[in-house]
Amino acid sequence: MRSVIDILDLTPAEIGELIAVSEDIIARPASYADACRGKKLATLFFEPSTRTRLSFEAAMYELGGNVLSVSSADASSAAKGESVADTARVVSCYADIIAMRHAKEGAAYVAAQNATVPVINAGDGGHCHPTQTLADLLTIWREKGRFDDLTVGFCGDLKFGRTVHSLINALSRYKGIRVVLISPEELKLPSYVKAGALKPNGIPYEQTEDLEAAIPALDVLYMTRVQRERFFNEEDYLRLKDSYILTPDKLRGAKADLSILHPLPRVNEISVKIDADPRACYFKQVLNGKYIRMALILKLLKEAQA
Ligand code: NCD
Repeated sequence: MRSVIDILDLTPAEIGELIAVSEDIIARPASYADACRGKKLATLFFEPSTRTRLSFEAAMYELGGNVLSVSSADASSAAKGESVADTARVVSCYADIIAMRHAKEGAAYVAAQNATVPVINAGDGGHCHPTQTLADLLTIWREKGRFDDLTVGFCGDLKFGRTVHSLINALSRYKGIRVVLISPEELKLPSYVKAGALKPNGIPYEQTEDLEAAIPALDVLYMTRVQRERFFNEEDYLRLKDSYILTPDKLRGAKADLSILHPLPRVNEISVKIDADPRACYFKQVLNGKYIRMALILKLLKEAQA
């Protein structure tokens, strides 16, 4: 059974196909309105989420399918002590495909090992978040028309930000990618991501604490929230939470065609004054997330039927 736990579960060719299907959905939405008629998606979200869960659910509705939803750990048998493995086995009896978010790294993998239907990882702790990466990639594709030869800056919580880890893994497979890692010392990109993605693919990268100085070289700036829920103490969070705030004056030296992305939710990393700037792409990114999740659900259900 084909599941998507990590962005690397999809080849670059498959990502290209998902982008092509997303573009077709955007162009001809009516022709997908019955594509998943009679199918059920279960969204098992054991960690807070608005966007990702609603995005999956909206995606399934727009494909003509139905949705079964668990929106918190407290409201499910997880609160009674049921294992992820058992939950996955049980939900497979009700649904044709599962999207799961969990606070524990590896939870979606365990679910996939035990489910008899495809499982999509909708975020596992600080590990990875492949469908956010698909949304990010579709956005970069639509804005830039390519994945090659881009200088991409990642700013904020690069340690706990699972969307950062997944996007770096994905981009490391393209040619001419350069990465600028902008974070406070305590929130630097984990060495396992450097060793697993940047180094083996020969991706040049630099690390800096200075956002303003890094901006002029960037084609894409990926801002992130400091991940409060993953800190061991509140004091560290309070000290680091406002490390970076993108304001119009920091953009003075930026390229005219810079694309500013953020997986959202935004706390205050990007001033609302930037929302009207044509370089701000984070709300388009939300919409792109729904389209590419439609494409992924279609692909996995088709493969499961074959
Ligand atoms: C991200 C996540 O859950 O990791 N949000 C999302 O899925 N859009 C980023 C975040 O929570 O900061």
